[in-house]
Amino acid sequence: MQTRTRFMAVMFTLVVLLMATSSVLAQEISCSACHDDSTLITGKQTSLSDAVHGTGEAFGRGTRAGCAGCHSGGAFSAMVAQGLTPDTVEVGDPNPTRQDCRTCHQVHVTNTEADWALETTAPVALYAFENKTFDGGKGNLCANCHQPRRVIAAADPNDNIAVTSSHWGPHHGPQSAMLLGMGGAGDVAGTPSFHSKMVTDTCVTCHIGPEMKHNFEAKAGCSDCHAEDFDLDIKQAEVEALIVELGELLEAKGLYHDGHPVVGLYPAAQAQALWNYIFIAVEDGSLGVHNPDYTRALLEASIAALQ
Ligand code: HEC
Ligand code: HEC
Ligand code: HEC
Ligand code: HEC
Ligand code: HEC
Ligand code: HEC
Repeated sequence: MQTRTRFMAVMFTLVVLLMATSSVLAQEISCSACHDDSTLITGKQTSLSDAVHGTGEAFGRGTRAGCAGCHSGGAFSAMVAQGLTPDTVEVGDPNPTRQDCRTCHQVHVTNTEADWALETTAPVALYAFENKTFDGGKGNLCANCHQPRRVIAAADPNDNIAVTSSHWGPHHGPQSAMLLGMGGAGDVAGTPSFHSKMVTDTCVTCHIGPEMKHNFEAKAGCSDCHAEDFDLDIKQAEVEALIVELGELLEAKGLYHDGHPVVGLYPAAQAQALWNYIFIAVEDGSLGVHNPDYTRALLEASIAALQ
């Protein structure tokens, strides 16, 4: 009986050991899964070096706490690990990085291929709004940084809105809100675009695509849905024409000059038109693609408000 118990105990230990070894084997560190003679890494380094993420000057902003979560790759990773949002980061990054491989991928965590996993794909509560969440698959990674920092102030009792600085506006990078049909000013109701609902991984599908290009140009996958003869240039030119018209009206009324809003107190409808111009022309940057209907509606209402 005693021998049998001892035998069982030995067997049990052996099985446990075997299981432990095989799970170690399954995740064995393998530097050469990534560092080999292929262009797996260098191909991405090359395209990233053409992208603003890789070249941009704005990563220097990462030394300030209020900017670090989005502008320093390192501070972004720390923010995600701590469960913070860009507006709750309390320290700047003394050694800010560009948006590099480590910003978006895990890199050297398990030292296996699994480290290509994205740092986060959790839905993003857009902090400038109440109870609005961006849930666009892998594009959630991008929406952490590409979200507005502000919404426009309400009109004062005299129906005016103050333009408080030459950097007034939602801030660069409001693309996630544009996809959802929010972030503009005035009475224009927006709805989430077809693109936000139908393109599974939103930003990542169009800006990276199946070839995994890392220059972040948005040319991927359009022909999955659009006909071969679909002419993006023509569609964008129509929106561009409205942008030019609105820009000229704002210059003529003295609200916008030399690439910046002019500080002052303006009738609400005019300030809202200025906000929409900055939102669409200066900051969203897609010339309508992210949300064709909302973009057009905002531009048309803003032009009407200034005429
Ligand atoms: C998931 C793929 C992957 C695996 C596995 C991997 N690396 Fe890396 N490694 C990278 C990436 C990505 C970079 C950053 C390249 C860049 O910054 O352009 C890098 C950079 C490096 C560098 C350059 C210095 C630095 O830290 O940026 C060294 C050295 C290095 N890895 C060693 C290793 C060793 C040793 C292992 C195994 C223990 C390993 N790597 C496993 C992807 C990987
Ligand atoms: C850590 C924050 C962060 C993440 C994550 C991030 N971006 Fe960016 N992105 C930026 C910043 C900051 C810039 C501007 C860089 C500069 O000017 O130095 C930028 C620039 C860009 C640009 C170039 C814009 C231009 O004006 O030319 C594109 C396109 C872009 N991002 C798309 C994406 C996509 C797609 C993703 C997700 C796969 C993504 N970004 C993830 C912060 C981020
Ligand atoms: C919520 C994330 C976020 C925060 C916080 C943030 N930024 Fe940005 N910022 C971005 C993104 C994303 C871009 C790039 C947008 C694009 O090009 O479409 C950008 C672009 C910029 C640019 C233009 C860069 C260029 O190359 O033209 C400047 C300047 C800038 N930010 C300054 C700041 C400063 C200063 C702060 C802090 C006071 C700050 N940002 C905070 C996300 C953020
Ligand atoms: C702004 C964010 C961002 C940056 C910076 C970035 N990547 Fe990526 N990368 C992505 C996304 C998003 C994907 C698509 C992942 C997917 O579809 O699962 C991807 C895919 C990849 C893949 C394919 C992974 C797979 O599972 O097949 C490789 C390899 C890769 N990236 C390497 C790199 C390297 C090397 C760098 C630095 C030179 C880098 N990436 C920088 C966001 C980024
Ligand atoms: C349906 C495809 C599609 C989706 C989804 C999409 N984009 Fe775009 N995006 C585009 C196109 C097309 C442009 C215009 C590019 C051009 O004119 O060169 C653009 C423009 C941009 C720009 C301005 C680039 C510049 O050169 O100024 C940024 C930044 C950007 N997108 C980021 C994002 C982010 C972040 C998301 C997700 C929140 C996203 N996009 C989702 C297609 C898409
Ligand atoms: C999953 C399907 C899908 C993908 C992928 C897709 N689109 Fe679309 N797109 C649509 C739908 C649906 C509409 C709305 C069509 C309509 O209103 O007639 C649309 C509308 C548009 C419009 C506005 C058309 C107009 O008449 O004003 C533009 C511009 C556009 N897409 C560009 C792009 C570009 C550029 C890409 C690739 C980067 C892309 N789309 C990828 C489904 C898609």
